Amino acid sequence: MDKQLLSKTAAAMVAKGKGILAADESSGTCEKRFKSVNVECTEENRRAYRNLLFSTPGIEQFLSGVILFDETTRQKANDGTPIPEYLSNKGIVPGIKVDKGTVQLPLALQGELVTEGLDGLFKRLEEYFKLGCRFAKWRAVITIGEGMPSSACIRANAEVLARYAAACQGANIVPMIEPEVLLDGNHSIERSEEVHEATLRATYEALPRYNISIEHLILKTSMVVAGKDHSRQASVEDVAERTVRVLKRTVPSAQPGIVFLSGGQSDEAATAHLNAMAAMQNLPWPLTFSYSRALQNPALKTWRGQAGNVGAAQKAFHHRAHMNALAAQGKWKNELERQAA
Ligand code: 13P
Repeated sequence: MDKQLLSKTAAAMVAKGKGILAADESSGTCEKRFKSVNVECTEENRRAYRNLLFSTPGIEQFLSGVILFDETTRQKANDGTPIPEYLSNKGIVPGIKVDKGTVQLPLALQGELVTEGLDGLFKRLEEYFKLGCRFAKWRAVITIGEGMPSSACIRANAEVLARYAAACQGANIVPMIEPEVLLDGNHSIERSEEVHEATLRATYEALPRYNISIEHLILKTSMVVAGKDHSRQASVEDVAERTVRVLKRTVPSAQPGIVFLSGGQSDEAATAHLNAMAAMQNLPWPLTFSYSRALQNPALKTWRGQAGNVGAAQKAFHHRAHMNALAAQGKWKNELERQAA
């Protein structure tokens, strides 16, 4: 384990005033996103869209890293440079999604999931390292529902996350562990807080069993919010306070940083929540974004697969990245959105 390299990568990922773009949608997820704007989900369209994002002028001011999907690590930017190298040349750390998606957890309630992808993982990581990737992501999914999550589901996902993290550190790739508690459902924010705490506690108990170095690990977490069908949605301050409280209870201060997923929150809610948390004093770790939808939505809607819309789509992407980079420093204000509109 090259601790110096891992430390350097982790520090770059959570550099002040920057955050991470998740552009690692699987081809299936990409198909859904493209369908919403009537774009055919071909390999070339996926490449063209991602090239649009990565070549946005000045985007490196706001992005410390990008999470790629396997296909993208083997594609080229418009100028012919392999995409991982294209990103590194801009000072953006290339990362890679390495999990293979979720399946039903056997003998658990219908809808309880566990993530696959451990078989052959170390070999794949060695190849991704050669392709230029310096961090990896693995998403575990926890669903809140009647009798869910069970302790079996929480535990199974924690073990798998820890085994994945060990393989990454062994391959000199920084693991980004992502236990996502879904916001689907009608649960209260109190219930979300409880489930986040149980999930994170189990995850951080599993890590030492596999000799993981906490100093060389990034957490990607969901925020503590009420289920999207719940009648009462919490204030920005309430979400921020509960999320940070859970993180302080469960995540060691030795960890280099924490990033958030947007999980289906509106673009501005994801920005406002991050801003409220980052503005808090004396946090033990840097906090920033690792959004997919909340960074890309306006760009995708503007692009619609038309070459003539590329400039406007890049402007929309630049704006969201800028707003979130300010939020990561607690410097975002609602008025900034209105000025830009
Ligand atoms: P969202 O920000 O759209 O939730 O995506 C982040 C992510 O990487 C999910 O795994």
